[in-house]
Amino acid sequence: MKGIILAGGLGTRLYPLTKATNKHLLPVGTEPMLYHPIKQLTGSGITDILTITSTDHMGDVVQCLGSGEEFNCNLSYKVQEKAGGIAHALAMAEDFADGERICVVLGDNIFEYSICPYANEYKKQEKGARVLLKEVGDPERYGVAALDEFQILEIEEKPRDPKSSFAVVGLYFFDNQVFDVIRNIKPSDRGELEITAVNNAYIQMNQLRYSICKGRWTDAGTFESLFEANKILLENKNRILPH
Ligand code: DAU
Repeated sequence: MKGIILAGGLGTRLYPLTKATNKHLLPVGTEPMLYHPIKQLTGSGITDILTITSTDHMGDVVQCLGSGEEFNCNLSYKVQEKAGGIAHALAMAEDFADGERICVVLGDNIFEYSICPYANEYKKQEKGARVLLKEVGDPERYGVAALDEFQILEIEEKPRDPKSSFAVVGLYFFDNQVFDVIRNIKPSDRGELEITAVNNAYIQMNQLRYSICKGRWTDAGTFESLFEANKILLENKNRILPH
């Protein structure tokens, strides 16, 4: 399985912190934010990793992460010229994936515990996609899963009236059908190719499974959530907890 870190976008919600740097280079705990997804992927045995980021500050991202030698992995990079959405960024990884399964991490997501068990669950899954759900107090900020006792029925992106309190977190496992799926989705009202549309397409094919995320999780895209991300990582000195 190959790893993809999505670190594009504009980081406007963190302005002016993002005036002179990329959101994913901001400090979280004792390290730059991007160290976390890299350590999560390598800790799950995924060492071939593509980082996709915007043109602004790409040089700084490369300076921060280098070839991957420091992390015992092989890093490559791609530029997303416009913030066209998470699925738009992911589409750029088709050649890199080269037919293999992929583990996609949003570069601003912080997990208290290792993601390794979820990767192992996906390896046992015959085909399709797998997402991770977390019960949260403010589901309207996220993609939200409507569930019955067995499966996800539908995911709604930032619903005003959420059907559950289960947010879809920024960690996704896909097989190589994902690039055809992305070719067939349409931009949302906010003009982005949404990862939620991709996951809903897998639901339509009856090929979306899920795991429940253990421990604390947050994104770091707002001042409040960046503060929470700092708390989680600083308390554990940026160590990712084993299960
Ligand atoms: O954090 C989990 C949530 O992330 C999910 O619950 C939502 O379903 C998903 O849409 C996403 O929501 P956000 O509104 O928080 O996404 P945001 O626009 O902040 O983008 C998250 C990361 O994705 C960001 O750190 C970088 C990457 N990204 C985003 C966009 C829009 C890109 O690489 N390219 C992009 O064009």
